[in-house]
Amino acid sequence: EADLESKLPLKGKKFLITAGPTHEAIDPVRFIGNHSSGKMGFDIASEAANLGASVVLVAGPTNCKVTNTSVKVISVTSAQEMYDACHEYYSDVDVAIAAAAVADYKPKTVAAQKIKKASEDFTIELEKTKDILLSLGKIKKNQFLIGFALETENEIENAKLKIQKKNLDLIVLNSLQDEGAGFGGKTNKVTFIDKFFAIEPMELKSKEAVATDILNKVIKHFHE
Ligand code: CTP
Ligand code: CA
Repeated sequence: EADLESKLPLKGKKFLITAGPTHEAIDPVRFIGNHSSGKMGFDIASEAANLGASVVLVAGPTNCKVTNTSVKVISVTSAQEMYDACHEYYSDVDVAIAAAAVADYKPKTVAAQKIKKASEDFTIELEKTKDILLSLGKIKKNQFLIGFALETENEIENAKLKIQKKNLDLIVLNSLQDEGAGFGGKTNKVTFIDKFFAIEPMELKSKEAVATDILNKVIKHFHE
């Protein structure tokens, strides 16, 4: 049995993971989105399943595929849909990891018809989307809650503020300053900061390897 546990250290654990961008509709043919590929979240989901976890992956629009088919993938488009899907599963999970690049703003109204070009200038009024991770932190019971932070200045300070504001156990800070890190690429340079503000900078490595590092943090948590 000890052998099984070492091979499948996340057996019996339930995960909720978000991945990818969200698309916020402007009209029937246009949206506001971002360059998130979804790869980081998909890699975490596949690796968690490989380690024995039962995984629900709520994914925005992406071309990514899970390499472990036991992952239950829920495809969504908008931040509101991602919010709804997450709240359907959250109360039942042991671990939630928010790797999605959720749009912060959406058009206040969605045009029913394709918007025609007319005047020289055109303005779209935006309003905030719901902060999914913040909402999960507010109703957290025993879940181990992990967020990501994308910062370009005052990285550590801003990430610490996010830990507190969103009631996180761990944040994965993405360093866009380092070459090869962040959106689109195959590699990531991250820094872990836990809820006690212990800071652990990691080497530049593949997103699969970053996924393994994150899951090792989770495994360590369950052994404490
Ligand atoms: N997040 C979320 N829902 C949102 C916005 C963000 O769940 N509407 C989550 C992301 O998945 C990530 C974390 O919150 O895990 C931090 O996202 P980030 O964009 O770095 O921070 P924000 O809180 O959106 O603040 P800002 O963009 O202003 O830095
Ligand atoms: Ca944001």
